[in-house]
Amino acid sequence: MPDVYNWQLNRAMAYEYEDSRPTRQVSAVFDINKCIACQTCTMACKTTWTSGKGQEYMFWNSVETKPWGSYPLGWDVKNLEMLGPAAWDYATDPPTYRGKTLFEKTPDGERVAGYLPDELDYAHPNHGEDETSGNIEDTPYYLSLPHAIWTFYLARICMHCTYPACLAACPRKAIYKRKEDGIVLIDQERCRGYRECVRACPYKRTFYNHVTRVSEKCIFCYPAVEQGIWPRCMRNCIGKIRIVGYVHPPALSDPRNPIDFLVHEKKLALPLYPQYGLEPNIYYIPPIHVDSTFNRQMFGPKAAQAVQMYGRIRAGLEPELQAVLLLCVSTDKILGRFDLQGDEAVGYDMSGVEVVRVPLQEPAVVREPYDDQLRVYRHNIT
Ligand code: SF4
Ligand code: F3S
Repeated sequence: MPDVYNWQLNRAMAYEYEDSRPTRQVSAVFDINKCIACQTCTMACKTTWTSGKGQEYMFWNSVETKPWGSYPLGWDVKNLEMLGPAAWDYATDPPTYRGKTLFEKTPDGERVAGYLPDELDYAHPNHGEDETSGNIEDTPYYLSLPHAIWTFYLARICMHCTYPACLAACPRKAIYKRKEDGIVLIDQERCRGYRECVRACPYKRTFYNHVTRVSEKCIFCYPAVEQGIWPRCMRNCIGKIRIVGYVHPPALSDPRNPIDFLVHEKKLALPLYPQYGLEPNIYYIPPIHVDSTFNRQMFGPKAAQAVQMYGRIRAGLEPELQAVLLLCVSTDKILGRFDLQGDEAVGYDMSGVEVVRVPLQEPAVVREPYDDQLRVYRHNIT
């Protein structure tokens, strides 16, 4: 197998094919602290792409409650059991992953260490919903961080990985990564339903269609992306947790690019299970109220620093970060650049045209507590 460079591991690793990064790579950042599990994203995707026969069980976008929720059942626990504890070497900066990836821990004759979910694994999309990490009654009630008992919502789509396991595993070469934007697609004509992609993808984001007998997956709404517009799940996000753009490798990071700023400059947004080795391109701002060991397992060695950085935003010490996060779902145009002008956050599209401007602080209007005309007291005066 050739060696490719994975910056999230800070080392070269084995992969099925030579390194060939796309010209640009689509990406998004999800702020977990704002997700309310309303599943609006799930239904926006479902009604757009997977309402046909054979697609009933498919959720290209899903939201699961951690620690107990998972779709399909136990997807991440099964991968973690295969890999064992993540061995990060903190003597280097950034830390280096010394353990094996899913491409390096392959059983004989396979290209990726994986497993094929059972039918029943897809039977309970809401498994574990709103179940907390422990028993609240057994715990003293206190208001400090991290919380003794916690839960959080993890929204997931295909990661459009730099090193897709699905692509590496397909014996038909039916999966490809687009040069122009890095979106990973399954060629429906070439696919013969071998399901090696389903077995290989650790995030379980390819789905076999028993009616058409080929596999399908999230397409990052490429017809919209080609028009500079966000995917459906992102545009419809009620919690405004998402921001869409393009990400560069760290050496080419552009500090005015909102995704690069969150991922590389401030290291606030982190990959999900970087130890798998796929260099996923959806990034997460980790939950701040959660046990730090759990966060490190899920988001890698920089998780605690990201939580600290989030605290600085809340303390008003990071106005530029605040500006970028305010641009989340303030527009549906893919943003190439952002700026902080006075007390306004400004976003520009990929051709540099201003498409959104929002105040850092909404103006507060205070009304009289008593309405003379209606002769009533107001409950809410701001
Ligand atoms: Fe392929 Fe899975 Fe990566 Fe998506 S998340 S590109 S389906 S390996
Ligand atoms: Fe290949 Fe997956 Fe189809 S392995 S043949 S893309 S089902």
